[in-house]
Amino acid sequence: MKLSTLNFLSLAGLVSAQVANYGQCGGQNYSGPTTCNPGWSCQYLNPYYSQCLPATQTTTLTTSTKPTSTSTTTRTSTSTTSTQGGSSSTSIPSKNGLKFTIDGKTAYYAGTNTYWLPFLTNNADVDLVMSHLQQSGLKILRVWGFNDVNTQPGSGTVWFQLLQNGQATINTGANGLQRLDYVVQSAEAHDIKLIINFVNNWNDYGGINAYVNNYGGNATTWYTNSAAQAAYRNYIKAVISRYIGSPAIFAWELANEPRCHGCDTSVIYNWVSSTSAYIKSLEPNRMVCIGDEGMGLTTGSDGSYPFQYTEGTDFEKNLAIPTIDFGTLHLYPSSWGEQDSWGSTWISAHGQACVNAGKPCLLEEYGSTNHCSSEAPWQSTALSTNGIAADSFWQYGDTLSTGQSPNDGYTIYYGSSDYTCLVTNHISQFQ
Ligand SMILES: *[C@@H]1O[C@H](CO)[C@@H](O)[C@H](O)[C@H]1NC(C)=O
Ligand SMILES: *[C@@H]1O[C@H](CO)[C@@H](O)[C@H](O)[C@H]1NC(C)=O
Repeated sequence: MKLSTLNFLSLAGLVSAQVANYGQCGGQNYSGPTTCNPGWSCQYLNPYYSQCLPATQTTTLTTSTKPTSTSTTTRTSTSTTSTQGGSSSTSIPSKNGLKFTIDGKTAYYAGTNTYWLPFLTNNADVDLVMSHLQQSGLKILRVWGFNDVNTQPGSGTVWFQLLQNGQATINTGANGLQRLDYVVQSAEAHDIKLIINFVNNWNDYGGINAYVNNYGGNATTWYTNSAAQAAYRNYIKAVISRYIGSPAIFAWELANEPRCHGCDTSVIYNWVSSTSAYIKSLEPNRMVCIGDEGMGLTTGSDGSYPFQYTEGTDFEKNLAIPTIDFGTLHLYPSSWGEQDSWGSTWISAHGQACVNAGKPCLLEEYGSTNHCSSEAPWQSTALSTNGIAADSFWQYGDTLSTGQSPNDGYTIYYGSSDYTCLVTNHISQFQ
């Protein structure tokens, strides 16, 4: 979603002397806290990074031997052995044919989006949202894993990466990635599975534009600009290293709604191929997705704008990339010159393409200002369409300590009648 209004929030951050679960606790030049929570221990991953991990997970992660040139130690895979038995909440989400498997259960899943959750500074607000999601049965939660700036804001404002004077500085402080750490920690505690992405196509929270301001070029050359791509990859690595092995991550996502307007589809295809392969090299057993809107599709096409290739994406070609685990599609008929009723055409066409590709697909964002009357039929179509394995509506709303969470006209607030329609009733259809 491209956000039209950015209101709100920055209260004093809570700074703790203890490292959050899955947070950094050691490494070269690291000067932060080193004490993990009870039941968690600080485990060596590489010379630059030690991480608080469940004490029981010790033997399942990368071996703790220092990687000297003479070492013959074989690195083990990053998967947890606790997936054996299949029903543990400590297992890493995966796919199984055209469906997803979470906590050992292969089924249809519902979720939602709260892009703003990692930008909150009050832990209790994060926990409140997570507990409401858990009670509701919403399992998949997509949040922004980026927050790029070109000038450093005040200490009360959350930011993750400063792109300035040709340099990239990642903020691992209390108003930086430690906020994302808390989201992961809370998701782990509430058995919620996160989709975390690494850059925005749009200018909200920096985006590709923040890289362009720092490295030159423009929104279409960004995909091949070597300095920008090096910084982007470095950022990806910094985020992923914090949560390797966490059962709370559903998938790593390349971007929010990547487009390359007027470009040959090979530009984004090549970028998706190389970036997803890079992510797999960092954490082989984690699912990876693109975060695109699903535009550019021949199967089931009615020839209208979203099906065309003008935004530089080819849904079917990109989905065939071996290091992409599942497809994503978004649905905003009113932004694309379509009627709401057209949504079912869009969902069915993608379902067929996903079946053809042999991969599950996630209806990752969908929204209409008509809420229930337009979106409930989309949910029914998604549920009954082979190849659509889950849906996550845009966007979840709640009442936080600072007031109501952002409302862009698509927000479905917890406890509202639209929530009953689109969450409670929807989930009762398949559980
Ligand atoms: C640690 O600090 C030293 C001295 O400032 C620097 O040379 C070195 O590159 C730093 N190492 C890392 C991993 O940042
Ligand atoms: C970006 O720059 C390239 C190379 O100069 C140019 O061909 C392209 O039209 C530009 N795109 C935009 C959106 O300005």
